[in-house]
Amino acid sequence: MAKPSVPNPAPACVPCRLAVIGAAVLVLAGGFAYTAGWLTPARLTAPRIVNTFESVAGQPHPGYRRNHAKGLCIEGYFDSNGEGAALSNAEVFAAGRTPVTGRFAVPGGNPSAPDTSSPVRSLALLFQLQNGEQWRTGMNSTPVFAVHTPEQFYQQLSAAKPDPATGKPDPVKLKAFYAANPETQPFQAWVKAHPPSSSLANAAYYSINAFRFTDAAGNTRAVRWAMVPETPYAPITDAEKAEKNFLAADLDQRLQNGPLRWHLILTVAKPGDPTDDATLQWPDNRQHIDAGTLVIDHTTSQANGTCRDVNFDPTILPAGIAPSDDPLLAARSAAYALSYKRRTREEALHPAIHQTQTNGDHS
Ligand code: HEM
Repeated sequence: MAKPSVPNPAPACVPCRLAVIGAAVLVLAGGFAYTAGWLTPARLTAPRIVNTFESVAGQPHPGYRRNHAKGLCIEGYFDSNGEGAALSNAEVFAAGRTPVTGRFAVPGGNPSAPDTSSPVRSLALLFQLQNGEQWRTGMNSTPVFAVHTPEQFYQQLSAAKPDPATGKPDPVKLKAFYAANPETQPFQAWVKAHPPSSSLANAAYYSINAFRFTDAAGNTRAVRWAMVPETPYAPITDAEKAEKNFLAADLDQRLQNGPLRWHLILTVAKPGDPTDDATLQWPDNRQHIDAGTLVIDHTTSQANGTCRDVNFDPTILPAGIAPSDDPLLAARSAAYALSYKRRTREEALHPAIHQTQTNGDHS
């Protein structure tokens, strides 16, 4: 039997095909241009934020983080006591030990700035879970952040750009920013009432941003956390204020006498507590759970230590912990990724950076 004839498809029109390919390339290029912010110069993008960090730092510091540039790497572990499992089914909260690598730092883009250049210290951690997941966190030594939105953060940074005449931020611009943004008041009041600690070891470090914890039964609650030191707080001394690099020296000295410990305190929100506003603390009477002990036993230089090539993006989380609706989290993630991309590219192009890094290094 003769086969039914199948109609021949119309011969493809070559100019049409080229037009389709051209359109696809244009759409892709448009997508890249949009993402980079070239089509919408007023839109707040990671490049605009990171470029502004670079302007505030004054001069380029290739190979360094664009913020919290001065720091050192640390190693240790987290001993979970199992109590955190009441809030999250993340493996890190089951009783047992999780290796941790991390970094202490001082905010600002200049790796050679004096330790007193900011009243804030920071602690970033990467928990390496047995099941292959990671929990990364970047915490500051204040329980609240100065601003509520990424746009305000950008305005604050822009106001801190050095005045070409003095090489320093213009106090008038900074004052005008704070006056126009009363949300900054809780942060300013906290800093005024809490002199910086005398050591990296006796400061508490806070997640500031809220996160969502989900337990084994599927219940989800908003949680913030803090690493609270066993070493009692003491304020910075006058002698320390005169020392440019006292924090790293002090830490190494303390570690010679044994490991340093912090307790991971989880704070549970009540319905109605704000989860999208890092300028507001939750009331003190919220439930707190001590989930275990962070033990730091040694430091390494940030030029050669494990933390050098880690992006402490706070949205890299294990199952059982998820970001909240705080708008700072997505902005942090995008800015940290770009800072990471720039600094690791500089390291790759100029390996000698690792030699010079030790000069401005904390350790
Ligand atoms: C929109 C708000 C924020 C922006 C744009 C921002 C930006 C940045 C950038 C670009 C870096 C360098 C990252 C790298 O190269 O690895 C950084 C580091 C850091 N930031 Fe933020 N940040 C913001 C808010 C916060 C908040 C709320 C906290 C505290 C909870 C925080 C804590 C840290 C810490 C601890 C580091 C140092 C991480 C390390 O030691 O590697 N940041 N930030």
